[in-house]
Amino acid sequence: MNLSPTLSTAISNFQLPDPLGFGRVTGPVMFVADYINGAWQAGELMTYEPIALNPAATSLQFAQQCFEGLKAFWVEQDEPALFRPDENAKRMARSAERLCMPEVPHTLFLDGVKAVTQAMKPLIPRRSGESLYLRPMLYGMDTQYPLAGSDNFRFAIVCSPSAAYFAKPISVLVERDACRAAVGGTGDVKAGGNYAGSIQATRRCIERGYDQPLWLDPVERRLIEELSAMNICAIIDGALCSPALNGTILPGITRATLLTLADDLGMPALEQPIDINSLLDDIDSGRCSELFACGTAAIVNPIAVLADGQRITRLQQVDAEAARFKAALLGIQEGRSADSRGWMFNS
Ligand code: PLP
Ligand code: COI
Repeated sequence: MNLSPTLSTAISNFQLPDPLGFGRVTGPVMFVADYINGAWQAGELMTYEPIALNPAATSLQFAQQCFEGLKAFWVEQDEPALFRPDENAKRMARSAERLCMPEVPHTLFLDGVKAVTQAMKPLIPRRSGESLYLRPMLYGMDTQYPLAGSDNFRFAIVCSPSAAYFAKPISVLVERDACRAAVGGTGDVKAGGNYAGSIQATRRCIERGYDQPLWLDPVERRLIEELSAMNICAIIDGALCSPALNGTILPGITRATLLTLADDLGMPALEQPIDINSLLDDIDSGRCSELFACGTAAIVNPIAVLADGQRITRLQQVDAEAARFKAALLGIQEGRSADSRGWMFNS
């Protein structure tokens, strides 16, 4: 790939941090394509830099914005490979529709992530568990004081060479005050506003010594939904269980992948409502042997503690089944196992 001299220099001069961590650095490359007067313009690869945005733009005023997260892996493969980018393109199309933004054509989405991945080749980590985290985003550019929404938009992709979101088993605190999403809202799409509304509870939970809040359904506050930045899975009676998608949970691509991989691991997979009180009792009785978080950034991350107010429940088993799922997932992503379902895309 031919890069401009400025871009080549920026890439050669870039230093990766040690330890790498998650999202500690932004790669020196970005991809930008504009939607102007009803048509997508050609995309451009450029040096990562601040971009001008009118302070009265709908993305800043009204959060008319959505994003995606996906990864390029380059461990065992000859070339970096993308994991299920078609699913991210589809989810971004759903988010865009919900937020009154134009769909980013799949070819533009894929060309963009491939261009960033190829340019970033010298900076893609090759150690297992590390990858290039790509963050496509779409946002309104027009100045609007009445609530009307933009006509012109920008699609941009930034990236971060990264390890997993957490480097250890996490502890999770049931969120009893705030709600993340309601049916008919935007919880099931990847709108930045969902995350803005989650920051307060996430911070509160970190201040209390936990890693992530566990969101409950907004009506009865009884059914578990997901964590602030990842989905949740439980092993109950030997089956992989994840809360049924009910219109408020983000349909995670990792979650869907694990539910499919369960079959390969000889385990039944269930999507069902999971009551928080039953879950805590099931952990105490041993019916629920394990809990873990899953997501693009998180990969598969064991949960060691689940706390609900003063009731602090320790999982008897941590990272046995989670480790099997993680190995199966990373095996495909990193090119050690056959990709029989066509999940990996050339970059
Ligand atoms: N739920 C939330 C709120 C998330 O931010 C994420 C991360 O993207 C997920 C779930 C997991 O989704 P995926 O596996 O597609 O990354
Ligand atoms: C991802 O896993 O891609 C996410 O978007 C979670 C993010 C909030 C770190």
